[in-house]
Amino acid sequence: MPARLGRLPGDHGADLIHLFDDLEALSQGAAAFFIDKARDAVAARGRFSVALSGGSTPRRTYEMLARPTFRDRVDWTRAHIFWGDERCVDPDDPRSNALMSREALLRHVPVPAGQVHPMDCRPSPREAARRYEALLQSFFAGGEPRFDLILLGLGENGHTASLFPGAPVLTEAVRWVAEVYVAEQDLHRLTLTAVLINQAKVIVFLVTGAAKAKVLNAVLHGPYEPDRLPAQLIRPAGGELLWLVEQTAASELVG
Ligand code: 6PG
Repeated sequence: MPARLGRLPGDHGADLIHLFDDLEALSQGAAAFFIDKARDAVAARGRFSVALSGGSTPRRTYEMLARPTFRDRVDWTRAHIFWGDERCVDPDDPRSNALMSREALLRHVPVPAGQVHPMDCRPSPREAARRYEALLQSFFAGGEPRFDLILLGLGENGHTASLFPGAPVLTEAVRWVAEVYVAEQDLHRLTLTAVLINQAKVIVFLVTGAAKAKVLNAVLHGPYEPDRLPAQLIRPAGGELLWLVEQTAASELVG
């Protein structure tokens, strides 16, 4: 899968970094990895639970997964689709993470409608977070909430999902889902908390673009400052953490 494979010093829990020449190669690699994890999960447990990332980077991966050569290698009837976070906007708002995923992937694959669980901020972000957490508790049948796969992106300010610098949710140690107000966007959001994300079997960051080079190096090699760099909170409790990185985003990696 990787164009080049390097192993990072595991100072922030990063197990493995896969470098790719461009977004296309990274997306192909991410799609292949998604298929592998889906196959393994269905073989082991009869179902595959995944939390999709929002933002723009994963779109190409989702579009690839919708292609017959990739699509036909996943048993979508066994897939259960969740989101890592969502902006509190109308479902048809172009900022909606669920809308992007539906357009790029979900309307092209046969996941049963009852197995697709978009985050909805109504009637209020706080009540919506409570309801999504209740859904997760029901899905994981009161056991450990271990997603088979969680996809994440990295913001230029070091956020991931909707875990933004300085946000109270960063220190949330109990709740699985929380409401967040992002002042600079004047936007409410819902997010899985770090304590839930870190329960996953596999966590994969997708990072592309020279604009992410500085923050990626800070997250992976800088001092541990999760309040400033929330992506550093992502340290799987027992699972695997992978970074799929396009080479311009890796251009400032040292060490
Ligand atoms: C969101 C995402 C967010 C995203 C990063 C990177 O809803 O915005 O969950 O965490 O992954 O901001 O976004 P890009 O992939 O667009 O750079």
